[in-house]
Amino acid sequence: MTSRKLRESPKCINVEVHLVRLDACNEFPCPDVTLPAADWHGAAEIRSLPQRNAFVATRVLLRRLLSARLGCPPAAVPIIREPNGKLRLLGGGIEFSLSHCEGWCAVALSADFAVGVDVEHIRPVPGMADIVAHFFPPAARAAFAAASPTHKLREFFRWWTRVEAAVKASGRGLDNANSCFDGVTCKSCFAVPDSALAVAARSAGPLCVTLHQAHPPSWCGFLCPSPGQSAW
Ligand SMILES: CC(C)(COP(=O)(O)OP(=O)(O)OC[C@H]1O[C@@H](n2cnc3c(N)ncnc32)[C@H](O)[C@@H]1OP(=O)(O)O)[C@@H](O)C(=O)NCCC(=O)NCCS
Repeated sequence: MTSRKLRESPKCINVEVHLVRLDACNEFPCPDVTLPAADWHGAAEIRSLPQRNAFVATRVLLRRLLSARLGCPPAAVPIIREPNGKLRLLGGGIEFSLSHCEGWCAVALSADFAVGVDVEHIRPVPGMADIVAHFFPPAARAAFAAASPTHKLREFFRWWTRVEAAVKASGRGLDNANSCFDGVTCKSCFAVPDSALAVAARSAGPLCVTLHQAHPPSWCGFLCPSPGQSAW
């Protein structure tokens, strides 16, 4: 009998990312059964209407996604906030992260590892070179320096979102952004025009990201995001 030693390939980390367009949601929605009172109180403290709507939209999306997996009503999903600001499920079981920016909100879910997601609208940034010098890790600084003048802004946001996703996945703060990629795997793409999106997981394995994109005509659009494709 011959014995063959099989080389184990690293296990793929599956991460689901749900990306939802917010620009149809320009009115503060009426409280419904999706959100618990604590979320409505949190929303009420946000003075800017677009930011408040983004907060609510992201919470609605997050709670509906978790509710479907846990089999409990969205408002009953036990989400708590850690002292560093990270949200997590009481009792664990599903890892998640969220992000909101002008026009978009994103939720990443993983069954296995701590994840981070970041979506940013690509816009002019004053002092870009200083931010790169102070916050970007060496690989990001090198990529930014190598980018042509016309690609600098895009490269900046590619790495900005990667840094923020890695910071969220790793649990380290932006103070440790230089080492944010240690022990973290990251992927990014330009899923929608003028926006950059990145996902990170606290693991060395390869990342397999499934992107679900939705453009809701109304709040009910969050119920059924449709699968989409993007070059990660
Ligand atoms: C957490 C952080 C990444 C916030 O990012 P942001 O782009 O401002 O906001 P996002 O919408 O993408 O993410 C906010 C969400 O991150 C989550 N979050 C907050 N702190 C977190 C932490 N320590 N770890 C993981 N997730 C965290 C929260 O769920 C929060 O949403 P909520 O307040 O509605 O619950 C934070 O590091 C930060 O304040 N960044 C400031 C931007 C900056 O200077 N970036 C430099 C880039 S190099």
